[in-house]
Amino acid sequence: MITMKINLSFMLLLLTTTNAQPPIYNKNFCENSTHISPSYKTNVKTLISWVTSDSFTSKGFNYTIIDDHDDNNNDIGFSDVVYGLYSCRYDITGYLCQFCLTTAASDISRQCPNSVTTIIWYDVCILRYSNQSFHGKVSLSPTWNITGPRKIKDSTEAEKMETAMKGLIRKATIETKQFWAVEEFHWAENETLYGWVQCDRDLPSDDCGQCLYALLDLFPQCCATNLQWAIFAPSCGIRLDDEKFYQSSGKGGTGKSRKMIISLSVVGFVVLLCFSVYFFWYRKRVRKDEITLDEETWNGDLPTIPLITILQSTNNFSETSKLGEGGFGLVFKGMLPNGRQIAVKKLSKFSGQGSEEFKNEIMFIAKLQHRNLVRLLAYCLEENEKILVYEYMSNGSLHSHLFDDEKKTQLDWNIRLSIINGIAKGIVYLHEDSRLRVIHRDLKASNVLLDDEMNPKISDFGLARAFEIGQNQANTKRVMGTFGYMAPEYAMEGLFSVKSDVFSFGVLVLEIIIGRKNSGFHLSDHGQSLLLYAWKVWCAGKCLELIDQVLVKSFIASEVEKCLHIGLLCVQQEAEDRPTMSSVVLMLGSDTMTLPKPNQPAYSVGRTTLNETSTSRSSNNNVTISNMLPR
Ligand SMILES: *[C@@H]1O[C@H](CO)[C@@H](O)[C@H](O)[C@H]1NC(C)=O
Ligand SMILES: *[C@@H]1O[C@H](CO)[C@@H](O)[C@H](O)[C@H]1NC(C)=O
Ligand SMILES: *[C@@H]1O[C@H](CO)[C@@H](O)[C@H](O)[C@H]1NC(C)=O
Ligand SMILES: *[C@@H]1O[C@H](CO)[C@@H](O)[C@H](O)[C@H]1NC(C)=O
Ligand SMILES: *[C@@H]1O[C@H](CO)[C@@H](O)[C@H](O)[C@H]1NC(C)=O
Repeated sequence: MITMKINLSFMLLLLTTTNAQPPIYNKNFCENSTHISPSYKTNVKTLISWVTSDSFTSKGFNYTIIDDHDDNNNDIGFSDVVYGLYSCRYDITGYLCQFCLTTAASDISRQCPNSVTTIIWYDVCILRYSNQSFHGKVSLSPTWNITGPRKIKDSTEAEKMETAMKGLIRKATIETKQFWAVEEFHWAENETLYGWVQCDRDLPSDDCGQCLYALLDLFPQCCATNLQWAIFAPSCGIRLDDEKFYQSSGKGGTGKSRKMIISLSVVGFVVLLCFSVYFFWYRKRVRKDEITLDEETWNGDLPTIPLITILQSTNNFSETSKLGEGGFGLVFKGMLPNGRQIAVKKLSKFSGQGSEEFKNEIMFIAKLQHRNLVRLLAYCLEENEKILVYEYMSNGSLHSHLFDDEKKTQLDWNIRLSIINGIAKGIVYLHEDSRLRVIHRDLKASNVLLDDEMNPKISDFGLARAFEIGQNQANTKRVMGTFGYMAPEYAMEGLFSVKSDVFSFGVLVLEIIIGRKNSGFHLSDHGQSLLLYAWKVWCAGKCLELIDQVLVKSFIASEVEKCLHIGLLCVQQEAEDRPTMSSVVLMLGSDTMTLPKPNQPAYSVGRTTLNETSTSRSSNNNVTISNMLPR
C-alpha cells in the first residue's frame, strides 16, 4: 500500500530552496573555531559563489583552491587558503545537481558560520571545504550510517549482503575503475535489492577501494540486521536498499572492464542521502494508517520551487505536457531532471488576490495530508504566477477510466469498492478529521486521481477556499462546482455545506457503479437523470440491472446493493436527510447495519460557474427546478 518512494524525500529535499525552512534534509559536519580570520571568511564566500556559478558547467564535479589574499599569514601563521570540492551523485546531472549545490551553498554558511573545516551532505550532492588540502586523499572521518526499518529474516542474509557489496566494490574499483557502481541483486522471490557504492574520483583507485572497504568493515556493527542501510565517509559511501533510489543509466558500474585512462584526473566524490532518508524510513515505521505526515515531521514551510525548474520540467508549459484543465487552471505534467514526475497546476490569475493571503492558504492546504488526498509538494509564486506542484498520479483520473470503454475494464468490482471507500475516507478527513473543516465544493470523477495501485486520491481540495480570499464582494457569491455533481441548494442558492459534498459523493458512487456520467445521462434513451433512474430502479427492487456491464463477472450483489443504497441516501433532495461522511464510512464498513430508505433524489443541477446574482438563472438550460417525477 505504501507507494511513496524514497524519491519523495529526495524531492522534498531538492525542492527546498533557501528561503523555506527545509523540514528534512542533510547531515553536516562543522568544525567550529573562534579564530577565523576575515580573509578566510572572504575566501569561503568566494568558494561558495564559485560553486554556484561553476556547478552547471562542470558536469557535477569540480574542486578548487581559493587563495585570493596576498597576506596569507595574517593570523598567527594560519593560512587563509580554502580548499573546496563539490560533487553530485554520479547519476544526477544538470540542473538538479546545480539545484542541490545551490541549496548546499546557501545552507552551509547558515549552518556552519564559524567553521574552518566543513562538510554538508545532501542525498545527491556534497560540498566540503577546509583550510587543509584534502584533494586526492582518503577522508574517513567522520563516518555515519543510517538504517531502515526492514530487518533481515536470518543471519545468512547478512553474509549475503556483505558478499554482494564486496562484489560491487570490486566492480567499482577493479572491473570498471569508474569509482562508482550500482547493481540490482536478485534477493528472494520477487524481491530485488539495490546497491550503490561511490568514492571520490580524485582518489588513486587503490584508495577508493580502501575507503569503501573501510565502510564495509563498519557494516557488521551498524547495519547487518537491516535490509536498508547506508554508510558514509567524506570520501565515499555505500548503500543498499529495497527500493531503487538511483537513476538507471548506462554510465558507471555497468560497463565491462575496459582499461580506462581515467587516471584520476579530476575528482569526484559524493555521498548522498541523509536525514531525509532516515526521516522517510522513520515515517514509514511510525505511520499507522491515515495521516502520512503531520506537524511532527512537517514543522517547516512548504518548499518553494523556482520558476525556472518548473519551466524546464514542463518544457515551458508546452502543449504536449498539458494534462488537462481543472477548475482553477491548467495542469501540466513535469519531469524533473532526476526523472521524478510531478503534476504542475498553473492557477489562473484572479485579480485582487494578495500573495500573502494566498500563500497562507497554500500552507494550510499543505497541512492537509491523507493517503486519499493528492499531496502538495511545493509551490511557486514568482513573476506573478501562482503554481502548485503535486505528486504525479500515474493512472490519471477516475473520470478517464470510468467513462472510457477500454479503460473501464481495468476497474473490477473490488477496485471500484476500494475507490468508493478511499474517496469516503478522504472526504471524512477533510470534513471532520483535519483541524479545520474543509468543504471541497467540486468533488467529481475528474478530481479523483488514481495512483499506480489504483488507490484514489482527491485533488483540488482547499482551492475553493483559497480562491475566495481576496475576491471582492461581488465575486464572493461565485459558485464553483460542476454540472452533474452540485447539490441543489448549492446550485440554486449558493449555499454550501458538508452536505453538498455528500451529495457530490453520492453522485460519484452511482457513477462508479453504473459506469455512466450523471451529466448527459438524460440525453440517452432513459430520458431522465441518472439519479432518478437509479432511484426508480432501486425502488422497484431491480438494483442489479443498473450495474456497469463490465462488472458482471466481478460484482458481489450484496456489496453493490449496499453501495447503491448509500449513494442514493447521499443524493437526497433535502440536505438534512443526507448522512454525514463519517456515517457513510460506517455504513460502508458494516454488513449488518439497517439503512434508512432513501427519499427521492434531487435533480442535479448547476454549471461550472453560476453567478448568484444572475437573474436568468431559472431560464438557464442546465437548471431544472421543477419536480417532474410523479409520486
Ligand atoms: C558548530 O556551530 C554550529 C552552528 O553554530 C552548530 O550547529 C554545530 O553543532 C557546531 N559544531 C560543533 C562540532 O560544535
Ligand atoms: C573547475 O574549476 C576551475 C577553477 O574555477 C575552473 O578553472 C575549471 O574550468 C573547472 N572545471 C570544469 C570542468 O568546469
Ligand atoms: C586550519 O585551522 C585549524 C583550526 O582553525 C588550525 O589549527 C590549523 O593549523 C589550520 N591549518 C592550516 C594548514 O592552516
Ligand atoms: C511473486 O509474484 C507473483 C505474481 O506477481 C505472486 O503470485 C507470488 O505470490 C509472489 N511471491 C512472493 C513470495 O511474494
Ligand atoms: C551508526 O549510527 C548510529 C546512530 O547514529 C551510531 O550510534 C553508531 O555508532 C553508528 N555505527 C557505526 C558503526 O558507525
